Amino acid sequence: MTNPSLKLALIGDPHLAVPQAADDPLLEIDPGRKLHGLSQELLAGVISEINAVDNLSAVVILGDLTRDSEIFNHQRVSELLAGINAPYYLVLGNHDLGLERGGVVDKIYPGIERLDRGQFIDFYSGRGLPQGSGYYRADLPGPCSLIVLDSSMSPQDRQACGFKDAGPDDGWIEPVQLRWLDEQLEDLQAAGRRALVFMHHSCMDHSPAERPGHVLHRTLKFWQLLNAAELNQILRRHGVPAVFSGHLHAQCVNAEDGLVNVVTSATVSYPHAWRLLSIGQDSIEVESRLLRSIPSCPELQSSSREWMAQGMTDIILQKLRDIGPLARHLDALGEMVTRSQWWPRFSDGSLRGFRVDPALVPKTDFVSNLMTQQIVQILNSFGAWQDSRPDPGQLSIPLDDDKRREAFRLP
Ligand SMILES: [Fe+2]
Ligand SMILES: [Fe+2]
Repeated sequence: MTNPSLKLALIGDPHLAVPQAADDPLLEIDPGRKLHGLSQELLAGVISEINAVDNLSAVVILGDLTRDSEIFNHQRVSELLAGINAPYYLVLGNHDLGLERGGVVDKIYPGIERLDRGQFIDFYSGRGLPQGSGYYRADLPGPCSLIVLDSSMSPQDRQACGFKDAGPDDGWIEPVQLRWLDEQLEDLQAAGRRALVFMHHSCMDHSPAERPGHVLHRTLKFWQLLNAAELNQILRRHGVPAVFSGHLHAQCVNAEDGLVNVVTSATVSYPHAWRLLSIGQDSIEVESRLLRSIPSCPELQSSSREWMAQGMTDIILQKLRDIGPLARHLDALGEMVTRSQWWPRFSDGSLRGFRVDPALVPKTDFVSNLMTQQIVQILNSFGAWQDSRPDPGQLSIPLDDDKRREAFRLP
């Protein structure tokens, strides 16, 4: 593709956390998944790479700007975002409604002011939010318009959504916003403009575990919009080619019936990727760039990959600890999960061909062996899923509806 008419950069989940003391323990709570203690350097590093791109039209930050919407973290993130040498646009994430997440954050920095949705909108009005709303449209120079949706859920949204057990990390697009979207897309189609859609939650499955009936279905239900089917129907009706989202802290791509969902990993988590979109006459070219180094961690990729492998293993072991027969084999199971690199490979989008090496599977008694095989099966099912998906690092999305359907004919 020559002379793209538009270049956009995407930044995922910065989760900025400023230490409140020299030994603030809250920065290290979750070293495997969110590197809170390095979050300022990570965001600054990504912004500096993005600023080196020529002729960038805009940058979209895909939500979860701070740890949990603490005012001091918003102040710092807004200072860093002000250093972007292009217009930038913000998406609201589940962690951007810190006050409204209630009990989840009560124990973290108690008594600290946190922005709720309305305060978030006021705070970023004119510096990332152009129209005094969490959802909006921005017409860029040329034929493209950005449609930014707000999928975050306040306690009122959780009551109103009609989905049982909706939690603070779930996502939903309220009816009034869906109607607004439908009108905007109608309007853009009539004007011959191209709409690109951005939101925090994903709008389709990115693992086999999100399908009803899977043993992890409830654990991962917060990844995807509760009313994704309703949203996708509207997007398809208007020929929207792709939705760009964050929230999963992983590099993922899936497509359903001509609509593509591209998920960008978190700045704050391995593999610290950001994306560059080049939008031309016929296609959107999607590239990934990895942040390789920051001052506090020169070998960022390898160190962060190890932390993530170990961090996810610790989480899994915590759950397995309660399953009696497995208790004796926890060390060996932990080693299997860590050495298989399952979670880092899911996160960096390189899970294609993944199967747990049989040599890593511990030899156990009969009952434990059945359970161990089940765990291996779950890990392997993620690999099998990725076998038939596009490369999430680099892809080309045709803008023609028929060509796009043909290019993304997936199981
Ligand atoms: Fe996040
Ligand atoms: Fe999120």
